[in-house]
Amino acid sequence: MQTFATISALRSFLAPHRASGHTIGFVPTMGALHEGHLSLVRRAVADCDIAVVSIFVNPTQFGPTEDLARYPRDLEGDSRLCASAGAHARFAPEPREIYPEGFCTWVEQNDATARCLEGEHRPTHFRGVLTVCLKFFNIVQPNRAYFGQKDFQQALLVRRMARQLDLPTEVVTCPIIREADGLAMSSRNRYLDPAARKQAASLSRGLEKARAALAAGERSAAALTALIRAELLAAGPCEIDYIAIADPDTLAPVETVDRSAVALLAVRIATTRLIDNLLLTPPQP
Ligand code: PAF
Repeated sequence: MQTFATISALRSFLAPHRASGHTIGFVPTMGALHEGHLSLVRRAVADCDIAVVSIFVNPTQFGPTEDLARYPRDLEGDSRLCASAGAHARFAPEPREIYPEGFCTWVEQNDATARCLEGEHRPTHFRGVLTVCLKFFNIVQPNRAYFGQKDFQQALLVRRMARQLDLPTEVVTCPIIREADGLAMSSRNRYLDPAARKQAASLSRGLEKARAALAAGERSAAALTALIRAELLAAGPCEIDYIAIADPDTLAPVETVDRSAVALLAVRIATTRLIDNLLLTPPQP
């Protein structure tokens, strides 16, 4: 695997591949890689001739009181994992390479789909995500870019950006990878002490309870949300940012689950904010 820290060096590596007609797969990450990321890398390796992984803790997607300073960083460990998953190139630029002095161009989506849920609780988050993703897409010019379903709203907004800005990149969403007790893999799981780690399994348990209740005939979103809330609160003290049952294409709230929907939640356990989601399909009558 080749490693790059500058845009020009990465471009020089990719240009002959592109000229030879090789397809390029791209996996953007903030490092602290886990099996969820590696599933994306393996998918890119399987689907494309060249797989590029970026490792960049993007400062512009963190709010002023968020965890930018303590976000886990382990470039050497991450590089080994990327190589073992078959990546051909690792791109780990410094912040100045991506945001040179005077940087002032932003991608924003100004509708309810972007402003709800994560957008409501982290008002500048998606502006940072979309801007860095567009920059990376322009640098790498991938045929396909791979995102995890765990960040459901992120994947939706990035796909929409690609469509609305006529980017040639196909945005592929891959399934959530979970720990044995159901906890969705996340770099932030490293913050959890043993008690908080145990409690964190309540997120996926709550979502599974909602799925089971739907399968048993409960279609009221309020009732399904109440089940999830009860499961979260039974596990211990936590701060719930939101529990939502929403349309999977627009994230508009759903009252009755009579077609496909998605249940999404964000919860703070001790000092760690976790998100998760589950697609809900009502049983056919
Ligand atoms: O999902 C993430 O890790 C980040 O939001 C991303 C897509 C790498 C952009 O910084």
